[in-house]
Amino acid sequence: MQFRSLGATGIRISEIGFGAWGIGGSMWLGGTDNESALALLAAADLGLNFIDTALAYGDGHSESLVGAFVRQRKERIIVATKIPPKNGRWPARAGTSIEDAFPYDYIIRSTEKSLKNLGVETIDLQQFHVWLDDWADSDEWKRALEDLKQSGKIRFAGISINDHQPANALRTAATGAIDSFQVIYNIFDQSPEKELFPAALERNIGIIVRVPLDEGALTGSVTPETKFPPGDWRNRYFRGERRTEVVRRVRGLTPLLGPEASTLPELALRFCLHHPAVSTVIPGMRNVKNVRANCGVSDGKQLSTKMLEELRTHAWEKNFYSAD
Ligand SMILES: NC(=O)c1ccc[n+]([C@@H]2O[C@H](COP(=O)([O-])OP(=O)(O)OC[C@H]3O[C@@H](n4cnc5c(N)ncnc54)[C@H](OP(=O)(O)O)[C@@H]3O)[C@@H](O)[C@H]2O)c1
Repeated sequence: MQFRSLGATGIRISEIGFGAWGIGGSMWLGGTDNESALALLAAADLGLNFIDTALAYGDGHSESLVGAFVRQRKERIIVATKIPPKNGRWPARAGTSIEDAFPYDYIIRSTEKSLKNLGVETIDLQQFHVWLDDWADSDEWKRALEDLKQSGKIRFAGISINDHQPANALRTAATGAIDSFQVIYNIFDQSPEKELFPAALERNIGIIVRVPLDEGALTGSVTPETKFPPGDWRNRYFRGERRTEVVRRVRGLTPLLGPEASTLPELALRFCLHHPAVSTVIPGMRNVKNVRANCGVSDGKQLSTKMLEELRTHAWEKNFYSAD
C-alpha cells in the first residue's frame, strides 16, 4: 500500500481508503455485519489506514462497526465521518440557508452523536455531508468547527461536495477553514479536473475521491439482467434504460484492459489515482474479495499518458442521483 498526504494536515493516508456507506446496511442490502467486519480486518491487514463513514449510513450503524473495529487495532486508523444536513435534504438545493442545514448547535450535537457511535474521543476528519458555496461567508459553521477543534472533539474539517457539482465549493476553498474536499471523480465524471483539483493543489487541500466505480457501473457487473435486492437504493440509480446505456459505455472500456490494468475496477481505480491532487480513493467495500482486489491496485504503477488520453474520451455527463 502506498501513502499520500491529506492536504496540509500532516496526516499520511493510504491511497485506497475504505468507503463505509455500504456496510451501514440500510440502503445497500445483501451484506452482513460479519462480512463487513472481515472486510475491514482484511483492509487494515493490507495497510489501509483511512475509513470514510457518516452518521447517516444506516443511522449510525456504519459508524458503530467502524468504531468497534478501529478501537481494537493497535495501529492508528484515520476515521472521517460526516454531519447530515439538519433539513434531511441530499444534495443541498440552491437557495437553502445554512441555518436550515448546518446551524451551530446542530453541528456540535451531530459531532457528539458520531463520537458516541464511534466510541472515540476525537474524530480525525469531520465533514459536511452536503454543501452550497453560498455558505462560504457565513461565520457560524466556522465558529462551530473552531470550537470542536479547541475542545479536542475533531482534528480536521472537510466538505463532501454535492454530486456532480465539483465547483460548488471553490469560494469555500479560499476561506482557509477546510482541510479536505470529498468529490465524485471517476472515468465517467472527470469534471473535478477543471477547477477543483487545480484549486486544491494551489491551496494544499486534501482530495478524497468518492464513487470511483460509479456505484458499480465501472466494475462491469451492472447489466439489464442485474437484480438488486428489493429496497436497495441501486434499483433507483440504475433504473429503466440506464443499465443498457451503462453496458454500452462499459463495452467501450473493455478493449483497454491488458498490461496496464487487467480488470475494469483496476482500470477505474488507477484512473482516479493518476491525478496528483488526489489524496485517497475510497471504493465502497463490503467483502474480502473486493478489499483484496482494490488494495492491490496501490502499487505505485501509473497509467501511461496514452491510456489517460484514451480514457479522456470516455467521460459521460449524467446525473443518476437526480429524481428526474
Ligand atoms: N455524499 C457523500 O458524501 C457520499 C456519497 C456516496 C458515497 N460516498 C462515500 O464514497 C464511498 C464509495 O462510494 P460508493 O460505495 O457509493 O460507490 P463505488 O465505490 O463507486 O461503488 C461501490 C460498488 O462497487 C462494488 N465494488 C467495489 N470494489 C469492487 C471490485 N474490486 N470488484 C467488483 N465490484 C466492486 C461494490 O460491490 P458490493 O455491492 O459487492 O459491495 C459496490 O457495488 C462510499 O462507501 C462512501 O464512503 C459519499
